[in-house]
Amino acid sequence: MLLDSILLWWHRGKTKSKMDRVFSRGEDPFSYSRCEYELSRLAAMEKAASQHRYGRALEIGCAEGLFTEKLAGLADAVTALDISPVALERGRRRLNGRPVQFIEGDIREWSPAGQTYDLIVLGDVLYYIDKPLVRASFERVFPRITSWLNPGGRLILAHGFAGEREGAHRRGFRERFQNLGLELTHEEIVAVSSGAVRCLLSVLESAPS
Ligand SMILES: C[S@@+](CC[C@H](N)C(=O)[O-])C[C@H]1O[C@@H](n2cnc3c(N)ncnc32)[C@H](O)[C@@H]1O
Repeated sequence: MLLDSILLWWHRGKTKSKMDRVFSRGEDPFSYSRCEYELSRLAAMEKAASQHRYGRALEIGCAEGLFTEKLAGLADAVTALDISPVALERGRRRLNGRPVQFIEGDIREWSPAGQTYDLIVLGDVLYYIDKPLVRASFERVFPRITSWLNPGGRLILAHGFAGEREGAHRRGFRERFQNLGLELTHEEIVAVSSGAVRCLLSVLESAPS
């Protein structure tokens, strides 16, 4: 247990420094607003989310708030969590005046203090924490996130992969949530002709009350 905590502390510092370094290179380091694949992935995520209107939404790993901006149009209140203060500062500027609360935190430790959500979105974030030395804290994330969903709430997962091995790994994220009782209501693979990376987009729902 003590070793787990020390390893998590170490990995959190490592991830935070890495992500701050990436975002310090300049705006949009992942080319979300330029790359055809990323634009298609974000459009598919928006389409999956926009079939409903939500009270409260949570985005985990919000980066600079590009998808958060879409969520702000779909939900009355949005909480956007990220480990990188550099990314969050850009998100705050982007969404200045909108009903979005940006929070710095590590999904393996942060908790919403009793708050629950109608929509939770995880896009390209879970593989950052699925690492051998910190696997126990990674596995604990799934029941924690599931417990934050309201009855009838939706969970959107969207993770890129290249090749069958990574594809199976991304399916494993969705399967863990299914094993916790969430029902898969939609799944698609988002791809563009130019490039080997594809995205597994899954929509899951908790049982209605
Ligand atoms: C590749 S970006 C994805 C951005 C956005 N979710 C999307 O789908 O386009 C991954 C983001 O996850 C954040 N992240 C990585 N590990 C995290 C953790 N343990 N807790 C919270 N955020 C984390 C990174 O700082 C980064 O902003």
